[in-house]
Amino acid sequence: MIRHQEKWGTRIGLILAMAGNAVGLGNFLRFPAQAAQNGGGAFIIPYLISFVLMGIPLLWVEWAIGRHGGLYGMHHVPGMMDCMGKSRALKYAGVFGIFTNLGIAAYYVYIESWTLGYVWYSVTGAFTGMTAEEVSRFFSMYLDTGSGGLINLNPISVIFLLLTLSLNIYILSRGVSKGIEKTCRIGMPLLILFGIFLTVRALTLKAGVSGASHDALIGLNFLWQPQPASLTNPKIWLAAAGQIFFTLSVGMGSVHVYSSYVKKNQDIALNAASAGWMNAFVEVVLGGSVVIPIAVAYLGLDWVQSNVGFEMAFRTLPSLFQNWGPLLAALGGLAWFGLLFFAGITSSLAMGQPVMSFLQVEFDMPRKKSALLFGLICLAMALPCVLFYGAGCFGEYDFWAGTFSLVAFALIEIIVFAWVFGMDKGWQEINRGADIKVPVFFRFVIKYITPLFLLAVFLGSMFKPENGDWAAAAARLAQGRSWNLAPDSVLGTVLNKGIADKRFLVDGRPTPLLFVTATRMFLLLIFTGIAVLVYKAWRNHKHPKEEI
Ligand code: PHE
Repeated sequence: MIRHQEKWGTRIGLILAMAGNAVGLGNFLRFPAQAAQNGGGAFIIPYLISFVLMGIPLLWVEWAIGRHGGLYGMHHVPGMMDCMGKSRALKYAGVFGIFTNLGIAAYYVYIESWTLGYVWYSVTGAFTGMTAEEVSRFFSMYLDTGSGGLINLNPISVIFLLLTLSLNIYILSRGVSKGIEKTCRIGMPLLILFGIFLTVRALTLKAGVSGASHDALIGLNFLWQPQPASLTNPKIWLAAAGQIFFTLSVGMGSVHVYSSYVKKNQDIALNAASAGWMNAFVEVVLGGSVVIPIAVAYLGLDWVQSNVGFEMAFRTLPSLFQNWGPLLAALGGLAWFGLLFFAGITSSLAMGQPVMSFLQVEFDMPRKKSALLFGLICLAMALPCVLFYGAGCFGEYDFWAGTFSLVAFALIEIIVFAWVFGMDKGWQEINRGADIKVPVFFRFVIKYITPLFLLAVFLGSMFKPENGDWAAAAARLAQGRSWNLAPDSVLGTVLNKGIADKRFLVDGRPTPLLFVTATRMFLLLIFTGIAVLVYKAWRNHKHPKEEI
């Protein structure tokens, strides 16, 4: 086993890298869509409460687990989970910390590559003179050669995917400080600059200005006006908690791995909080001020409410920018897709490192080789999403790797940290070298509140009833009828509740059920494969716990 000596270069570099890890497509594509689909302002209170009671505590826990593991040379999640206690099973919990990153990277890098493609198209004026419909069709064509079948491939989008992957591999192969840190030191300020430009432009749009028919502030108001009645709606709570997970990159392993390159007595308490708050700022302020207000200014709130989704950023915005004249339209496109690209790449790098560090530490693989291997696995795993975009593979990846695994792993890690490692040691670990005094209140929160909160989210997503209507489902149960699971609950998904046709083939052609089932089996295989590698790694050589 080689001990690798990498460390972060500077404190600001570390914060920018961690913020870059968190700030991603989730902030600009997922957040506006989630907020709008869950009633706008109704979303904001559950979101903020989840941030404070679940997000921030998990960040502290993950930074602590990571720095602690790093002291033993364990820069990958199975290794650092192993350092948390005596049980030999702990390392297997860490399998999530590799699986999730691979599973998310597979579709994330693909979306990231669209943003690069769209920077190119915006700057070269490809959208000039197109109608709204043509712009939307352009996006469909970008993904798809229009054959109408299940297997579609547009060579241009494949070229941008390969370009994006190569860039990721190159940066990762340069190492933590010279590659990741340097990229984030350039990318993050640029992202914020682009974000401010777009925010100012968006919020100054009024009815009659630059072809707008409504005030953009109506959109902002929709997102921001809190509605206390939503507090009793579990559906909104689940969506808000899910967004907190995805956006902060908690429950994934990437935070742990970045933190394992922090020095023994270097602050984590303030750094973790700063990166977390920076992400919240970018999400709520910048992420909330661009897509929705601009779309509302041109298309009205009703249209936005019924059409919002993450594809709106590609299907709709480029045509709205055309109202600003050719120069500003190109600049708007550059700022918007450039912002998305930087947000994306600083996050996908964070997904690569956990996989690479496992290969480096356990299988003595040199850095460059491990970066290349990560890229190849990522490409192989991205292929189903690229080839069968329309057939539900994408959704399967997002559901199992990007949603379910996060909650499952977060629940396990917080119990291990607070109850197995123990809160006395845990609290010390968070506070060693701290530049702020973490309020003691959080000791209580980490030990009791966050685990209970996570348990509620876990059970909630497992058994979510039809339409998220818990009261109606409970009433049905009281009448002796069965619990009607929502198609997007975990159990409902396993039982394929959302798919009416239960056949694998119709007239010799594969059905969505076949694609979905095959994707699921594939993901299960990857998870098992990683678990086997962990088993082998521990058979191959001694690990720190056995040496002490
Ligand atoms: N937090 C990132 C976002 O908001 C996503 C991410 C997932 C980053 C997994 C790192 C690891 O887009």
